[in-house]
Amino acid sequence: MGILSDLAARFRRDRATLALDDIQALILRSRPEPYVGLHAMLHVDEAAGGRDLVRRLAPHIPAAADWTGELEAWTGVAISHTGLAALGVPEASLASFPVAFRQGMAGRAEQLRDVGENAPAHWEDAFRPGTCHIALTIYARDDAALDAAIGRAMGEFDRSHGVTLVGTHRFGADVDAKNPFGFRDSISQPTVAGSGVEPQPGQERAIAAGEFILGENSETGAPLAMPEPAALGRNGSFVVLRKYQSRVGAFNDFVRAHAPEPAAQERLAAQMVGRWRSGAPLPLAPEHDDPALGGDPRRNNAFDFAGDPRGLVCPHASHMRRLNPRDGQLTILTDVNIHRIIRRSSTFGPKWSADVTADDDAAADRGIYFIFISARAYDTIEFLQQEWINRGNFIDLGEERDPVVGLHEAPGTFTIPASPVRRRVDGVTTFNRLRGGEYMFMPSLSALRWIGDAGWQG
Ligand code: HEM
Repeated sequence: MGILSDLAARFRRDRATLALDDIQALILRSRPEPYVGLHAMLHVDEAAGGRDLVRRLAPHIPAAADWTGELEAWTGVAISHTGLAALGVPEASLASFPVAFRQGMAGRAEQLRDVGENAPAHWEDAFRPGTCHIALTIYARDDAALDAAIGRAMGEFDRSHGVTLVGTHRFGADVDAKNPFGFRDSISQPTVAGSGVEPQPGQERAIAAGEFILGENSETGAPLAMPEPAALGRNGSFVVLRKYQSRVGAFNDFVRAHAPEPAAQERLAAQMVGRWRSGAPLPLAPEHDDPALGGDPRRNNAFDFAGDPRGLVCPHASHMRRLNPRDGQLTILTDVNIHRIIRRSSTFGPKWSADVTADDDAAADRGIYFIFISARAYDTIEFLQQEWINRGNFIDLGEERDPVVGLHEAPGTFTIPASPVRRRVDGVTTFNRLRGGEYMFMPSLSALRWIGDAGWQG
């Protein structure tokens, strides 16, 4: 049973308190397994034409009310700040968005630590500042459903005017949902309070809906600031979109260079991620991979770090533990629950193989469109990039960086706690290079119609 069918089985419509008819399905609906999909990036050249396209697309965007249904494909749509401006959204409304969102991802490179080879000057054309106005993401169960959904969306695009397609990318992963490094991903997702799904025993508690849906109460007990007017902001959310090129060969070479034989290499790779390739988490499978556990959504995320305060089982520096320290003690106190994110990442390129080496990296089109949704996404990504990814102070590791997504301008270190002495593995390089990205706003379905109809005109 995949995560989507598990959520569907546990969904109770009568317990849902959110406006599921107005929220885009993509926010609550997980990826299917296997999954395929498409990202399309559009630029609005002319406001009326852009609004016409938004109006045409709106009926093709399913609501979260259908999120457990038998949809074969579902499309989500998000708009950048320059996109909202290009669509003619009035100045007062544009000014009500948070500063970071208004500046756009390239404009926030310093806060995001997107420097060196990750700097915007090196990004792909589709992500040059002010280029990606509208991002469409389609997820589907199979190629036929995807082609049909693309046909519907692109049919509307072909009938529109004043909008340019600046980039498309097909993606997909097999039944085990493995990413370019051969690890199952998108396992751990926050449970959204009021969505109609309760956490399983052993899983983390539900997170207040306002952390993900604008207008709902957040973890502080009150709603977060919302863009104005409410017709635009309510039931929307924010999206972080970052395209990475994965240096799978460099990662393979790194584990080969630092562990003597395949079993030890698999262990080192699992320690860097926090899970084995199947998805089995180290806290529940400390000795070896357990594919049955890794593929079981009712068990593979039911753990905390209470029994492992020193990181002897799951290193503090592993990607998974850094990005969600759960109940673990941190050197710098933080409310972990305001940094939770709904991940909707998408893998592209050939399947992982141990034979790939660093020499293959430059030519291969392998990577991830890393996408996450949160009502404070623009803040959370800056916090994560600064504190939990590109530093180690919060876990008493000084300047050590995330071994999977950290930017390593000079070769870095990965620390593995052990008794009597910890092991420090040197030579970590940038295994995922940023190729571009943007801050996007994901409007509610009524807000999409409001934009399409220029609702501000009266
Ligand atoms: C681009 C390359 C990346 C790769 C290959 C990668 C891979 C993974 C894998 C294998 C997992 C464990 C399985 C799971 O729970 O889904 C994971 C978890 C996670 N990743 Fe990443 N990731 C990447 C980028 C990022 C970035 C850029 C962020 C944040 C800004 C991030 C945040 C997270 C979070 C929050 C979790 C779940 C932690 C938990 O709740 O246990 N990942 N990632």
